[in-house]
Amino acid sequence: MKIAFFDSGIGGLSVLHHAMKILPNEEFIFFADEDNVPYGVKSREQVLSYVDAAFKFLTAQNVGAIVVACNTATSVAVRPMREKYSLPIVGMEPAIKVALDLYPKKKVLVTATEITIRGEKIHNLIDRLNAKKFVELRALSKLVEFAERQEFNSADVEKYLREEFAPYDFENFSSVVLGCTHFNYFKDTMKKILPAHMKFLDGNAGTINYLARLANLKFGEGKKNPPVEYFYSGRRVTSSEELARLEKYLRRLDEMYLI
Ligand code: DGL
Repeated sequence: MKIAFFDSGIGGLSVLHHAMKILPNEEFIFFADEDNVPYGVKSREQVLSYVDAAFKFLTAQNVGAIVVACNTATSVAVRPMREKYSLPIVGMEPAIKVALDLYPKKKVLVTATEITIRGEKIHNLIDRLNAKKFVELRALSKLVEFAERQEFNSADVEKYLREEFAPYDFENFSSVVLGCTHFNYFKDTMKKILPAHMKFLDGNAGTINYLARLANLKFGEGKKNPPVEYFYSGRRVTSSEELARLEKYLRRLDEMYLI
């Protein structure tokens, strides 16, 4: 079955990267809305219209399911897309429950884009988990721009993260939840700054497990490299230069996967 992964940019590759490892017998389409990235600092109306256009394109590609590999787009648009289309649609959920189940009574720093942090969805999740006193929320929107420029561990990235993390006493925290798919690229830089006990959690495994259940897919160790067609805002990526760019992100994700 062909499965589409959609993100504002290259963050969704971190979700696809996980899917390629555990669902090697499927075929994938990856759609990065490179014309409109970043989403996280724009209005909800604007993001909804971008997602709507992407879904129009993807549903015309004969795909069996769509993974919204973007927390921001999930927060804004997953519900209206499910109302509009009948194919399985899987969104992202910040791994707050996983963090609190693994490390009860410790606080969690949930990082995401501004839209996600202001959105109702994340606050409903925190209420449902009765976790208000264990959760701190922090928007790290600038990381999206750094990631799109392939700037992962420069002095500027480090300075930005040091400033953003400065207000917290991490002795009381167990982990950082990566609530934006672009943030997976920065685990090594974050690790350098944070105390050694801090863990990193993302929603990628939860999303792919849910996709497999919903679309009845089998986990496996089959072919090493499942085929992927890449699109930037609806344009097929064919140039060797751009394919090499995407390959570079995937190789970085190989490294980040181990942290
Ligand atoms: N990758 C997206 C997410 O998971 C958002 C990045 C953006 O701001 O465009 O939230």
